[in-house]
Amino acid sequence: MKTKITDLFEIEYPIVQGGMIWVASHPLVAAVSEAGGLGLLGSGSMYPEQLREEIRKTRELTRKPFGVNIPLLRADAEKLMEVALEEKVRIVFTSAGNPGRFTSFLKSHGVTVAHVVPSVKFAKKAEAAGVDTVVAEGTEAGGHNGFEEITTLCLVPQVADTVSVPVIAAGGIGDARGVAAAMALGADGVQMGTRFALTRESAAHPNYKGKGIEAGEGDTLLFARKIGPIRAYKNAFALRIWQAEFAGKSPEEIRGLVGERRAKLGIHEGDTEEGDLEMGQIAGLVKELKPVGEVMEEIISGLGRVTARLNRVMNEIKN
Ligand SMILES: Cc1cc2nc3c(=O)[nH]c(=O)nc-3n(C[C@H](O)[C@H](O)[C@H](O)COP(=O)(O)O)c2cc1C
Repeated sequence: MKTKITDLFEIEYPIVQGGMIWVASHPLVAAVSEAGGLGLLGSGSMYPEQLREEIRKTRELTRKPFGVNIPLLRADAEKLMEVALEEKVRIVFTSAGNPGRFTSFLKSHGVTVAHVVPSVKFAKKAEAAGVDTVVAEGTEAGGHNGFEEITTLCLVPQVADTVSVPVIAAGGIGDARGVAAAMALGADGVQMGTRFALTRESAAHPNYKGKGIEAGEGDTLLFARKIGPIRAYKNAFALRIWQAEFAGKSPEEIRGLVGERRAKLGIHEGDTEEGDLEMGQIAGLVKELKPVGEVMEEIISGLGRVTARLNRVMNEIKN
């Protein structure tokens, strides 16, 4: 398979595993890269020295390309970047911040840079900052989301029409149908988070995975919309924040209610009621905890069937 994204990252399939806090450590990242996709370490939940160790452990498991996601809201984002550079990481995905801050610095060290954007406006900013590709992430996605709340279906074609760098679609993609749809919208690759968080190799707590497997399409909630929207499993914690917003509480009050370390409590420690169980709407599609190799194989083999179906439907339309 060959697209601008497989060429850019020198990978077999245009499938990126989102760099997820408390989920994307070396077993998951190496498994995705070994299966021909691009694994990304989720450095957002790591101390710099932990990241160094994770990079080294990933290299012990695969010789294929992998990268690091660095959320720019981290106060020590620069330190994480230094570690990535010292360890000769060649691919960095930045998110949750201004791409103008580090892109040219990373590029001057020979790094291929992607930035995650929730809107056309930020896609333009990222392109102007010099990124090699943008990840256009819709509001269906698990984790931290844009304030704009634009769905992947609406966002990807508008971003693809605006920027000249290749586009990676993210948010709500979980199988071959989603991958083909993203390509139809103008993407050259996809980034999947929730689907990979719900695999055997994911570092998430078994309780998190259990809730993800159980979840239906309506079991996630977008909350903390005034201070930085998060999509997560609809548990007591998420509902409490959502109701407080609905009741008109101020951003400060909401911030106080969210508190600290909720994602660690939920995803890492497995508190399914009081933790932040970040996951996307596509969790409803995931019914079984499979190994990454099987998930990738199903997507790749499924693409043939999806294309055949599309051809059939298109022919019916024409006739
Ligand atoms: C548990 C979880 C943690 C995440 N953490 C991060 C993160 O640290 N940095 C980031 O850029 N995106 C993060 N994301 C977003 C993913 O990288 C990806 O873009 C998103 O999950 C795609 O949407 P999907 O969940 O519908 O597949 C996270 C997503 C999940 C589900």
